[in-house]
Amino acid sequence: MFDLSSVDLLDAFTRELQLCKLKPGEHVVVLAEPASRGDYVAAAFGAAKACGAHVIAATVPGGSPAPMPSTHTGAGPGLTSVLNDTAAQDLLKSADLVVDLTQEGFIHAPVQQEILRTGTRIIFVCDAPDVLIRNLPSEGDKAEVLKGVERLKQARVMRVTSAAGTDLTVQLAGSKPEFQCGFADDPGRWDHWPSTMVLCWPEVSEGTIVLDEGDILLPFKEYVRDPVTLHVVGGHIKDITGGAEARMLDTFFHDARDPWARSLSHMGWGLMRSADWFATAMYGKGDLMGMDARAFAGNFLWSTGPHPVLGRESYAHLDIAMRGCTVSVDGTDVVTGGELVDS
Ligand SMILES: [Fe+2]
Repeated sequence: MFDLSSVDLLDAFTRELQLCKLKPGEHVVVLAEPASRGDYVAAAFGAAKACGAHVIAATVPGGSPAPMPSTHTGAGPGLTSVLNDTAAQDLLKSADLVVDLTQEGFIHAPVQQEILRTGTRIIFVCDAPDVLIRNLPSEGDKAEVLKGVERLKQARVMRVTSAAGTDLTVQLAGSKPEFQCGFADDPGRWDHWPSTMVLCWPEVSEGTIVLDEGDILLPFKEYVRDPVTLHVVGGHIKDITGGAEARMLDTFFHDARDPWARSLSHMGWGLMRSADWFATAMYGKGDLMGMDARAFAGNFLWSTGPHPVLGRESYAHLDIAMRGCTVSVDGTDVVTGGELVDS
């Protein structure tokens, strides 16, 4: 039987590169490691050619500097081989567009910022094929997330509440609001296909977060079964109570032996209306990064560990996706009871 999987993906990758505004004559590097999906390398390579671009497929050795298993965690520590190889870095800096097909990406590796500063745009791709296709972005997604970014920039306080008992107050001053829209079209832009979300990097938040049954813990890719209560003081988790998942989180923070493990990182809300909350249950953990959960429309996504705005480097990165929350910005809801307020 012929293997047609890359050909089956070619139109989706071509559409994605068009959204990244890839122009004829631009230079594309498809970055892979030995464990990357070969069909994605082939599809990205073919899509770059279809757009009339120059393309190089570069495979570098696997191996992560992070102490945790590289199983599409979202921690984004990069590959040791690239972090230690200026020739590899120079190749990426010389590209107009990098299609990053590595297992973890480089989002929390400082070298990525260096590469982006040269004007290279980077699109990171690692979810399963039908997750990519179902959540293929559209051009209008960017305008919508930018509205949310503007709203956060002009506001002082974000408040998150839920019927389960969450009541968190977040100070927005200096929180550097950002977005993901699923395509990287501006010079120096990194993005992740698929994703549609608004986020910020606050320093100070106070109150209580209650994870309800069915909320999703990433990178474990597990649903909460017993509610978990976390008390947050000054942007740090002071104590955790609840059932099995509370014990699990507490043990994770302890085992990380990381000064920032219990500190809050980015937070925001998802706008990806095509996302499926049950994708986390339907795929093997190695097949999925979990962007359906992270970018789910109307979720509240918060995280722990690395905080580039405050210069905190950490490998202990959790993303936690919650449903049913109300998120308000200076008193105006952007999400009510887990439903996006129509902008
Ligand atoms: Fe994250």
